[in-house]
Amino acid sequence: MKALGLTSRPPVGETHSNFNWVEIYQPTLKKDQISLQVKATALNVDDIHIAEGTAFGGIPMGLPKPNANKPLILGMDVCGIVDAVGDGVTKFRIGDPVFGVIYPWSRVGGMAPNCCAKAIQFHPLPKYWSFEEGAAMGVAAATAGAILKILGEVKNKRCVVIGASGSIGSLLVQALSKFGVKEVIGVCSEANTSHVTSLGADRVIDYNHAPWGDQLAENSKGVDFIIDCIGGKDTEIEALKLLKKDGHFVTLCGPVRFFGDQKTPFLSMLKIYTYLMRRMFFSRLNGPKYTLAYGTLPDWQTIQKDLIDKNIKPTIDSTFAYTKHDVGSAFKKLQSHRNRGKIIIKARTD
Ligand SMILES: NC(=O)c1ccc[n+]([C@@H]2O[C@H](COP(=O)([O-])OP(=O)(O)OC[C@H]3O[C@@H](n4cnc5c(N)ncnc54)[C@H](OP(=O)(O)O)[C@@H]3O)[C@@H](O)[C@H]2O)c1
Repeated sequence: MKALGLTSRPPVGETHSNFNWVEIYQPTLKKDQISLQVKATALNVDDIHIAEGTAFGGIPMGLPKPNANKPLILGMDVCGIVDAVGDGVTKFRIGDPVFGVIYPWSRVGGMAPNCCAKAIQFHPLPKYWSFEEGAAMGVAAATAGAILKILGEVKNKRCVVIGASGSIGSLLVQALSKFGVKEVIGVCSEANTSHVTSLGADRVIDYNHAPWGDQLAENSKGVDFIIDCIGGKDTEIEALKLLKKDGHFVTLCGPVRFFGDQKTPFLSMLKIYTYLMRRMFFSRLNGPKYTLAYGTLPDWQTIQKDLIDKNIKPTIDSTFAYTKHDVGSAFKKLQSHRNRGKIIIKARTD
């Protein structure tokens, strides 16, 4: 089958201009897998990091490297129709609409007409959900689920979400506002303030107006949780202006803005990881707590209960066609970090 893939590792910042039609073989279905006729995939910043080899700052952790014989087909988040099931799979039948995550990173992701994936990583697509919505509930939902687990009891707490209009932030604002928090405060640019309010935020702060920590500190009585979906030392500095001593700072990227966007020399990587370890250890002695969050398979398995049953839906920024031009545009947009929620690639219907 033909798919849009990469045959070499693109230079950093150039993934969008490196897609080509390549011929790939349909992978052999394993016992614990399902095969899907793909209907939609959603992009994650991590797709770019995998393509460019900058995930984990560039530490080789089994990242698939593209070459002409073995092209890389991106796409961790996928929604489609089951068209074959492995011998050991009882959860799904042929014809079931499902959505899920292809992980660990494989050479053939969801940006293909067909793909295979472990059944355990898939959920039935809820009735009345579109394929696009299903695709948008992948990595972002698992990560939002992981963060909610780290926060624990949120009732009557004050919570700030940085990057509130992003894929993960927009799920968190909705979830927190439904879980009985005292106040949800979203931080985003002015263009997204009304959207973040519509998701349930009690207050929205435009970070371009003035440092958001200063804006909130003016009449703040202390914040219990700050969830950082963008990273950067400046974010942590602002957070520390507001957090109660027994508060909790939960970050997805640590001290580097959108960690993985750039190649990181080994010594810098070492510094970053040392920083994270020290912060996590000492913050538990002195407060406020500092935690680096990451989504795991169990977090993904609990999203049904934590998010879907509570009618928390993804925000969709835009939907692109499965053409070389559109896929390039979709990745360019993702790289800009200006997307309001998920960017979707719709499968071809011909
Ligand atoms: N640790 C993990 O396991 C894990 C898992 C998944 C993702 N991640 C990482 O988490 C990060 C967020 O992922 P995502 O998928 O949610 O990203 P995303 O959807 O691509 O984020 C885009 C959003 O970021 C916002 N943004 C950009 N600069 C900002 C700033 N200075 N202040 C506040 N908001 C800003 C934009 O809003 P405005 O246009 O309004 O600024 C936009 O809505 C990524 O770096 C990703 O790699 C980590």
